[in-house]
Amino acid sequence: MTARPLTTSAARMLNHVEFVYAPGDRPLVRQLFEALGFRVLDPQTDPTPEALGPAAGPYLIVFLDPDNEDLIDNVAYASEVGEAQWRFESAIRDQMAADATLAEHHAAFKATYAKQPQAMTHVGVGYPSADEVKSAMKQLTSNPKLAERLELSDVFMPGDPGSVDDRVVQAFVYTDLISVGLLCGGQQIELQVRLDGV
Ligand SMILES: [Fe+2]
Repeated sequence: MTARPLTTSAARMLNHVEFVYAPGDRPLVRQLFEALGFRVLDPQTDPTPEALGPAAGPYLIVFLDPDNEDLIDNVAYASEVGEAQWRFESAIRDQMAADATLAEHHAAFKATYAKQPQAMTHVGVGYPSADEVKSAMKQLTSNPKLAERLELSDVFMPGDPGSVDDRVVQAFVYTDLISVGLLCGGQQIELQVRLDGV
């Protein structure tokens, strides 16, 4: 998926991302990653390589490059949210249901992702071409159950309205299905293509 060299021993690279999802969302989370063009290995249901070991059970293992076999680098993992986080998030949700001002702040915060996607927190994934980005965005909308959990931006080509950098193609997906932090904050993923010759 990427032509960038990631294997030099001196490379400091972002090697993995760890997501959580809410109870019951595992199948949809798998569909999300697959629609994004990644390969997903579910040790609970799929034949698994021996190297994986039993500790992998709770995790969906997400190979950002579908041809990659490396379980350590250039991967994401997703597992069901732990008890302590779920208790905390449930208390936040209860409080939002009871406090209109808090609920408004939450809604305004989430709406900002659609208004200013580049300025909001996200995980960025490099794609080889704008066509692959467009194809992934189309896949995401073709599954109604998945689509109702997503907010998709336009695909920003250089010079387009909303584009902020001529060196990249950018598209953004915001979802409440996964998070690297709190699920009530959601997660944004950037699909990016470098156009600066690297
Ligand atoms: Fe970004």
